[in-house]
Amino acid sequence: MALATLREVLEIAGRTNTAIPGFNIDNIEIPEAIMEAAEEENCPVILTIGQGAIHAGGLRHLPDVVRRIGESSSVPVVMHLDHGISYEQAVVCLRAGFTSVMYDGSHHPFEENVRESRAVVRAAHAAGISVECELGAISGVEDGMSHSGANLVDLEEVKRFLEAVDCDALAIGIGNAHGIYRGTPDLDFARLAACRDLGAPPLVLHGGSGIPKDMIQKAVRLGIRKINVATEVRLAFMEGLESAVGTRDIYAMYGAAKSAVRALAKEKIRMFQNKE
Ligand code: G3H
Ligand code: ZN
Repeated sequence: MALATLREVLEIAGRTNTAIPGFNIDNIEIPEAIMEAAEEENCPVILTIGQGAIHAGGLRHLPDVVRRIGESSSVPVVMHLDHGISYEQAVVCLRAGFTSVMYDGSHHPFEENVRESRAVVRAAHAAGISVECELGAISGVEDGMSHSGANLVDLEEVKRFLEAVDCDALAIGIGNAHGIYRGTPDLDFARLAACRDLGAPPLVLHGGSGIPKDMIQKAVRLGIRKINVATEVRLAFMEGLESAVGTRDIYAMYGAAKSAVRALAKEKIRMFQNKE
């Protein structure tokens, strides 16, 4: 089947009161393993190419890999740009066949975030492609981007942003962070519910690695429809490789790495889909 847009799969999530996983991919083996779990669970999936993968040259081949995966998949697959850094990068990804792009202007002044987000939405929607925006810069470190300090989204800014930007999904900062949490995450669920009640488009929770199941499922009940996971995917792949490094057999190593990613993806899918 053809690749799906973010909007299309989030409509499914809205109808079923679940969240769709957005897994970051950095090579061929990781999406292959994710797809085995997604098809086994009959769950749409968002294959995400982030700034780390792009910096490592991922735009040369990963879009073609994701496109081929989508064509042969039994579940809807979205090709998504993560934390897009500019209008120009969004256009490059639109030309490369992405079916969803994120523009992350959350660490810029509010008016600049609005202006650039509107430009990306205008270009992407003209091509029938979905856009995710962000308010409340997610703290932590991801793909070489770091942001410290509290990232609690300002509700007045959410209201003003939604009046100005017609995005298909909105990532909000509610105490979530990229990378491994120091201690238990402290998510502001009241703030999440308030964003939902402002009539926001489907809401996105970044920093999904390490958030415990009860918090995930409470966030989904309160309106989170997309949850991003990168760190745990990468750790699963690397730890899988390490577990078989003594075999000196590349197929044994990749097999162990893919098996670890498949198990992680299955666990997250079942958690986000309230199957656990
Ligand atoms: O943009 C990517 C996600 O927010 C991943 O966050 O690495 O903490 O799972 P994570
Ligand atoms: Zn993120």
